[in-house]
Amino acid sequence: MIRVYSGLVRAFTIRAHEEALDLGVSEVDPHPIDADDVLVEVYFSGVNFKDAMVAEPASRVRRVSDLVGGVDAAGVITESRVPGLEPGTPVAVHGGDLGVARDGGFAEYVYAPARYLSPLAGALSPRSAMIIGTAGVSAMASVLALEDHGVDPDGEILVTGATGGVGSMAVTLLAARGYRVVASTGSPDQADWLRERGASRVIAREEVSDRPGRVLGSELWAGAVDCIGGEMLGNVLRTLRYGAAVSATGLVAGADLVTTVYPFITRNVALLGIDVVESPPATRQRVWTALAALVPTIDLDPLVDSVIPLEGIPAALETVRRGATRGRILVDPTARARA
Ligand SMILES: NC(=O)c1ccc[n+]([C@@H]2O[C@H](COP(=O)([O-])OP(=O)(O)OC[C@H]3O[C@@H](n4cnc5c(N)ncnc54)[C@H](OP(=O)(O)O)[C@@H]3O)[C@@H](O)[C@H]2O)c1
Repeated sequence: MIRVYSGLVRAFTIRAHEEALDLGVSEVDPHPIDADDVLVEVYFSGVNFKDAMVAEPASRVRRVSDLVGGVDAAGVITESRVPGLEPGTPVAVHGGDLGVARDGGFAEYVYAPARYLSPLAGALSPRSAMIIGTAGVSAMASVLALEDHGVDPDGEILVTGATGGVGSMAVTLLAARGYRVVASTGSPDQADWLRERGASRVIAREEVSDRPGRVLGSELWAGAVDCIGGEMLGNVLRTLRYGAAVSATGLVAGADLVTTVYPFITRNVALLGIDVVESPPATRQRVWTALAALVPTIDLDPLVDSVIPLEGIPAALETVRRGATRGRILVDPTARARA
């Protein structure tokens, strides 16, 4: 049954003034901004690395001083004038300015422009869609980009930051598509968990730096999914096999890319940029269709780090900043924190 929205709703708000930042749960009155805005009742949202960047006092990602956080959400449409997006349709919502420059998914309801909604097909429910979340969409887009490039199905595929949202989904999705996955992690205590997600081998972060004194390392990887950036991405590039590619999707260790031209001009490797924030509707649809096909073959539940109420978001943001998440932190906006 569709719950009818009226009046104030609970939300996790970020209010910046001068150098200070107020984070907390308050009541807000959602309102449409664009003509094609659709109202979604949020069943689940997720805590992403980008949410932690938005909730920094001197954030360069946040573009307004006052907003509801949350760059993704999933739920059911309750109000819409857009053909094809009828009330009652289960959807995932992510991308654009959501949770960055306009109110996002950390709320009981969110208004979002139609182009940022993806109707959920097949086995996808709002819960499974939010276990996947922006991180899983990015991981799936990375896998498809490697396949479009022509990845050797018998070679090993490296995934960096493997216990995080993007990393753990990339390990899971690659394994479900039959690849041999090598998980690189700074959390060696999670090696068994990564093997259960489908990794055939687990290596320490430092091991990605093969033959550190040389311009090029050994030819190791038939492909890679990297969400770390910085030196890590440079080391991935110098250890790709001839003709292989890396999907670059994140900047956890920094926005700088430390590399030389040698991997490109002597090993013919490719650096594939992945963006799912402004990706066009056809790309989103392709990614969600691929996810819907894989979901029946995957156990998503172990990828849930925790399910928290809105009140738990500040602590979750700290966990993300420490790089200590395992899979995805889900937010249930209707849950109440225990007193
Ligand atoms: N391009 C896009 O459209 C898109 C979409 C979604 C996300 N992203 C980006 O992808 C990145 C990952 O997002 P996420 O949600 O997966 O974050 P996350 O859940 O916080 O995971 C990040 C993982 O990186 C590893 N890590 C943490 N600090 C590190 C460091 N200093 N050096 C090396 N590794 C470190 C940790 O895994 P281990 O302990 O296993 O190493 C951590 O779990 C972010 O930069 C995010 O903005 C981009």
